[in-house]
Amino acid sequence: MNKVDVIVIGAGAAGLFCAIAGGKRGRKVAVIEHANKPGKKILMSGGGRCNFTNYNIHPDCYLSHNPHFCKSALSRYTQWDFMELVNKHKIPFHEKTLGQLFCDEKSKAILNMLLTECNTAGVEMHLDIEITKIEKQNDDSFKLNSTHDDYVCESLVIACGGLSIPTMGASPFGYKIAEQFGIKVWPTRAGLVPLTLHQHDKDRFSELSGVSFESIVSCNKTEFRENTLFTHRGLSGPAILQISSFWQPGEAININMLPDLNLNEELKLAKCRYPQKLIKNILVDYLPKRIIDTLLPDDVSDIKMAELSHQALNKISDSIHQWQIKPNGTEGYRTAEVTLGGVDCNALSSTTMQANTVYGLYFIGEVVDVTGWLGGYNFQWAWSSGWAAGQVC
Ligand code: FDA
Repeated sequence: MNKVDVIVIGAGAAGLFCAIAGGKRGRKVAVIEHANKPGKKILMSGGGRCNFTNYNIHPDCYLSHNPHFCKSALSRYTQWDFMELVNKHKIPFHEKTLGQLFCDEKSKAILNMLLTECNTAGVEMHLDIEITKIEKQNDDSFKLNSTHDDYVCESLVIACGGLSIPTMGASPFGYKIAEQFGIKVWPTRAGLVPLTLHQHDKDRFSELSGVSFESIVSCNKTEFRENTLFTHRGLSGPAILQISSFWQPGEAININMLPDLNLNEELKLAKCRYPQKLIKNILVDYLPKRIIDTLLPDDVSDIKMAELSHQALNKISDSIHQWQIKPNGTEGYRTAEVTLGGVDCNALSSTTMQANTVYGLYFIGEVVDVTGWLGGYNFQWAWSSGWAAGQVC
């Protein structure tokens, strides 16, 4: 029987950070992980350079059924606190775009930093272990059975993340534990994920695979200005990943392909200046030729400017400024960066992450119904919620 003060299930971003904070307070902490290595998602994050936080962390950049829940933790352990730690470990980083902070070198630097801090704080790491049963005992402690050993702890922290990228160790374990203890779990779905298209659109746009352009993508009164990318399955790129978290099946998304321009005005001017030019040859000054060839109806593309009415020009510019497309779904958890939904915030304390009805049980990180935008927001939630629980567990 292994007896410790705190058991953290999940050696990801949130779990490791909570373990460090708990260990620093003198608590005997063990992290139990079912994969053979800790922090696998950290390693693959940010295209291998870990976008570990963002200069512009703000509660409005998180989706949750309780949008106020994340405020306390984010304000008590901030992006500036995490940057200070990164600086202390002399890890070089840079802002890529929109406040997003990436390592100059490999994501491994962040994982090594966390493991070094764990080591200094005396955290035990138990890898390759599957928990088979969790029970609350009469003295309020938790008893855990596993494939390796039995454990007893005062505080149990669930940090096993969401469902995205099952090949990296994702499991529904955290949700099952919440349900075991009568804690509500909101339905989950894939977020920050490429959108797929209906077969007829896929066929139409297959030629465009690999083409990317700056855009404003909107859906449900939310918009993002970043790049959109055509893929062989549908649409991707940061603007699409962002909007995917707001999109609901059956809805259309709007894409403005020329956000900095009033195309209608430009076309009216071009009609005066170049009446003999074909519309398709005017549009290539603004958008990749492949997009124009695909989007512009065949019977329009070879018409001379002089022959196009203002109404026709209006229609063409609308089709580019307000291109509407109805995705048929998402690529799902296989490629999603995050899981929306999860453990109900109203069942937890926003200052400690402890379950209101189960003394000593905590939920942190992605397993909780708090999901950030793309751009370092999700790791900051992992650090902040892990730190909050680590102060008391
Ligand atoms: P996380 O998933 O990191 O860790 C959970 C851990 O629990 C895993 O180690 C898992 O194996 C373990 N586990 C699961 N079930 C278990 C069980 N039954 N028993 C024991 N252990 C169990 N975010 C960001 O801010 N910037 C970025 O650059 C990126 N990039 C990125 C790229 C890709 C490809 C993905 C998939 C995701 C990102 N993210 C991101 C999102 C970010 O990785 C994510 O939000 C955090 O890792 C969440 O941290 P957690 O610790 O909550 O879960």
